[in-house]
Amino acid sequence: MLGINRIGELEKIHTPFWYYDTDLLRKTVAKVSSLAAESSIEVHYAIKANAQERLLRIISSSGIGADCVSGNEVLHAVKCGFAPEKIVFAGVGKTDKEIADALEADIFAFNCESLQELYVLDAMASRLSTKARVSVRINPNIDANTHKFVTTGLNDSKFGIGAHEFDALADLLGRCRHVEFNGLHFHLGSQITDIERVYGLECKKVNEIVSYFENKGISVHNIDLGGGLGVEYENPDEYPVPDFGLWFRTISRHLARRPGQRVHVEPGRSLVAQCGTLFSRVLFVKSGETKTFLIVDAGMNDMIRPALYGAYHRIENLSARRRPNLREEQLYDVVGPVCESSDVWGTGRVLPMSVRGDLIAIRSAGAYGQTMSSRYNLKDFAQVVYSDNLYSARLADEY
Ligand code: LLP
Repeated sequence: MLGINRIGELEKIHTPFWYYDTDLLRKTVAKVSSLAAESSIEVHYAIKANAQERLLRIISSSGIGADCVSGNEVLHAVKCGFAPEKIVFAGVGKTDKEIADALEADIFAFNCESLQELYVLDAMASRLSTKARVSVRINPNIDANTHKFVTTGLNDSKFGIGAHEFDALADLLGRCRHVEFNGLHFHLGSQITDIERVYGLECKKVNEIVSYFENKGISVHNIDLGGGLGVEYENPDEYPVPDFGLWFRTISRHLARRPGQRVHVEPGRSLVAQCGTLFSRVLFVKSGETKTFLIVDAGMNDMIRPALYGAYHRIENLSARRRPNLREEQLYDVVGPVCESSDVWGTGRVLPMSVRGDLIAIRSAGAYGQTMSSRYNLKDFAQVVYSDNLYSARLADEY
């Protein structure tokens, strides 16, 4: 991943820190943009995955739109260069202020998640003498075959409107004078790796639901298929750019597109996961009764994914690459400093013999790492370093 010279530079930086490879992000953005254009698919980046302004500016300057889930995300997206007419706004619990701000910003569409929200959107748009462009988020009851915490399209999930309310929805749409019906929105879940099967099923279900609304005399001008494309956590160097081509081919094959109908997707993780690394340093090597712990200075406060979802992130000891006795390896449980037993980066990891001060890379950390970090245990937020601007980094004063 990184040349030895670069490792020397990184070793001087105060840890923990986020490192973003902006070249890889540009390459990923260029790839998704060109493949999407070939398939006439419009891309809205889900900024919840990573909202760093520099990264957002790289993405927005390519013409990609934004998918937001809070009023602050909408305002941040506009500030970071996303055109309001390419911003969609989902979320089951939009506050009145968030709705008012988004109406004011004149975004492309609200992705409305309940009948009551539709009433409120209509009433608020009426009060502000405007119209709310609304796509309705449908819950298609499809299993995305991923972790249950990031599964969103099953009947028992809080997201979207289920089939039991379709008749009431069609009726209500006909009565909302200040709502402009924009189309339908779907999102099945995240880190979907079974691409052809899951997105194939989604498209077939979408075809049925579009026909249902058309039969009620309601035209569906926009179909938003959500995000979810998975990335290779085990092998980030071999697959730095996810298979957008397979995703878009699956959509083109299975979606019965009507003439003039616009199709949208909302990838988050697949754009930014691989360009991010969380760098940490070995504080202590400790022999437990049954295992050896590598205690590092990044913890679940920096990135909660392993503790929350049991997520796998590849861990590498970069300093060991610069030592000649590289071949000596050992089994470690790599753990953070936080006072929780779940603050574990990985158990039973085979790593080169590691010592205090070694620089450790926690890979594929660009998505849902920094945005979900906290100051639990009153730890400081980790600093941010970009591959094209290492010199602004705070340097370590120890080791
Ligand atoms: N659209 C909607 C409506 C969403 O809820 C999400 C993600 C996306 C798009 C983007 O999905 P992506 O392409 O990133 O899979 N914190 C979890 C992931 C939560 C995803 C939430 N919704 C994690 O660290 O794995």
